[in-house]
Amino acid sequence: MRVTSAALPTDATATDDAELSTTETMDRSLLSAIAKSGEIEAALATDASRFRVLTGDRPTGRLHLGHYLGTLANRVRLQDLGVQTMLLVADYQVITDRDDAGPIAERTRELLTDYLAAGIDPMRTTIFAHSAVPALNQLMLPFLSLVTDSELRRNPTVKAENEATGGRPMSGLLLTYPVHQAADILFCKANLVPVGKDQLPHLELTRVVARRFNERYAGGRTVFPSPDALLSDAVNVLGVDGQKMSKSRGNTIELAMTEDETAKQLKRAVTDSDRNITFDPVGRPEVANLLTIASLLGAGSPEDLAARIGDGGGGGLKKLVTEVINEHLRPIRARRRELEADPGYLAGVLAEGNARANEIADATLAEVRETMGMTYR
Ligand code: TRP
Repeated sequence: MRVTSAALPTDATATDDAELSTTETMDRSLLSAIAKSGEIEAALATDASRFRVLTGDRPTGRLHLGHYLGTLANRVRLQDLGVQTMLLVADYQVITDRDDAGPIAERTRELLTDYLAAGIDPMRTTIFAHSAVPALNQLMLPFLSLVTDSELRRNPTVKAENEATGGRPMSGLLLTYPVHQAADILFCKANLVPVGKDQLPHLELTRVVARRFNERYAGGRTVFPSPDALLSDAVNVLGVDGQKMSKSRGNTIELAMTEDETAKQLKRAVTDSDRNITFDPVGRPEVANLLTIASLLGAGSPEDLAARIGDGGGGGLKKLVTEVINEHLRPIRARRRELEADPGYLAGVLAEGNARANEIADATLAEVRETMGMTYR
């Protein structure tokens, strides 16, 4: 069924309505985002330059196949379509739920290396870091004035992230980071944000912040346009143990691994005792996951791959998937090694991206001060 957005609530109602339960709000905004995403894909095909995308990651470690297939490949696609793309290294977001920043400089360099190796082109995509763009961070102050503490407290993503820290008291930064994220998106007036379902509440809050800013501080003039979500096709790649792919589980295949490390990791992969390989996501989720990974990397449909392996069993499956991954990642890994050998180049890319982001942020902050009558200086 194709849902049209006309039949669904627009951003004017969803989050403001205190009567709605969190789940209802989620469902309504999910439906509306799905409908809208379809329209946006069509518009992207005809005029990509209308769009400015902002997206980003916390620099918490090397990127793995889950990131690559889930978001990174899509960012490269948008960039290559001609969308203006802003790519944020969300360093201040790292400290929302831990006691120290960790080896953040090294992790930022790793993230940058993964981006560039995977095809992000710094001539077309602006890569920058929170901590290097003061005016972006300053926007958080007026924005915080536009939300209530109860709106922040009922954010389902914040709640889930807080629970995942296992009883650690919630920091003020974790509670308010969705507002910081609104500043990430609005400082450059991005109109499109590629997100997974879990980030939809943040985007909804960004729209609320934009709308309230325009109403309360700008007399109804549109200083901040409301961004739309571009929902990714829910590619959900599992790790080699069949659980969610995540660094802490040690079940990832990192872009930075060698071919041998990849083979070793695949050897550990969970399969089952049925030697005849079939694509059965419900009955044989681990086998299906490996077939899906190979398929997403361009090796053919999961059914065809299964037929090709036939009675080869788990061993045959792992061998094929290892080859597909290593072949696909070979040029990315080669590029990665070149980049690693040139830290000066990497630092230059980030410095240039930061400079561009600062220009944009300074202009937006100046406009905000002007709008709010704060022009005495
Ligand atoms: N929250 C995102 C993550 O954990 C990173 C991020 C920060 C982001 N600011 C953003 C994503 C703005 C989209 C828009 O990966």
